[in-house]
Amino acid sequence: MPPQLNLILLGPPGAGKGTQAERLGEDFRLAFISTGEMLRANVKQGTQLGVAAKEHMDAGALVPDDLILAMAAARLGEDDTRDGFILDGFPRTTAQALALERQLGQGGRRITATLLLDVPDEEIIRRIAGRRVCVKAGHNYHVDYDPPKRPDVCDQDGSRLIQRDDDRPEVVENRLRVYHDQTAPLIDFYEERGLLRRVDGTRPPAAVHDHIRAMIATLRLEDSL
Ligand code: AP5
Repeated sequence: MPPQLNLILLGPPGAGKGTQAERLGEDFRLAFISTGEMLRANVKQGTQLGVAAKEHMDAGALVPDDLILAMAAARLGEDDTRDGFILDGFPRTTAQALALERQLGQGGRRITATLLLDVPDEEIIRRIAGRRVCVKAGHNYHVDYDPPKRPDVCDQDGSRLIQRDDDRPEVVENRLRVYHDQTAPLIDFYEERGLLRRVDGTRPPAAVHDHIRAMIATLRLEDSL
């Protein structure tokens, strides 16, 4: 059996983490865990967590670590993560990264690699301005770079496409600031552990996808040696 693949996708908002995670989850049959999607589902359902998270998300700030850690720990304890997983948007602070390391270590698991999607801020702003997501499952599109076949309709489930509340320009500015202050230190964190792999996220989605697939094939080879 191939070794378990436990991947983290790291990068600024709008770098393409969700776009790539969706494709990779299908390629490799890995559990796809997006803390952003989980939080948005909680907001939609009006749960206690959703109510607590919404004000932070709408402001482009991070949701407090204790809320995120409880949610992520429960999800990582589910059976479908035993064959490997892709984390999108988690960890996002050093405290989250340390807690993740601890939880996986207790279960005899570890991170295989952290893939950093490198995209400059100017391109992030263009991407987020054009992003559209479907109301049903959050499938991602871009009005210019990755348009749906029919305007404002999801190719995958036929639901309506909308703009996310936190994609307003003034909120995006804060999300980028928060990324540089609180999440970018994880680049050194994973580099020091020899786990960081850099991906040029400015190339088209299919090219980024091909690059990551090749990288994963190499990681698997290295792990099986
Ligand atoms: P979250 O949903 O995780 O948002 P994010 O990290 O800001 O990332 P995005 O979803 O905006 O972007 P992405 O990198 O997935 O890019 P995408 O593939 O969509 O988090 C939302 C909020 O929840 C946070 O602000 C925070 O409040 C809270 N939160 C979540 N996790 C948390 C945590 N761990 N701790 C604390 N708080 C947390 O692509 C963007 C656009 O570009 C799309 O339109 C896409 O079609 C297009 N695109 C993608 N790739 C390419 C490409 N290669 N070329 C051209 N266009 C592309």
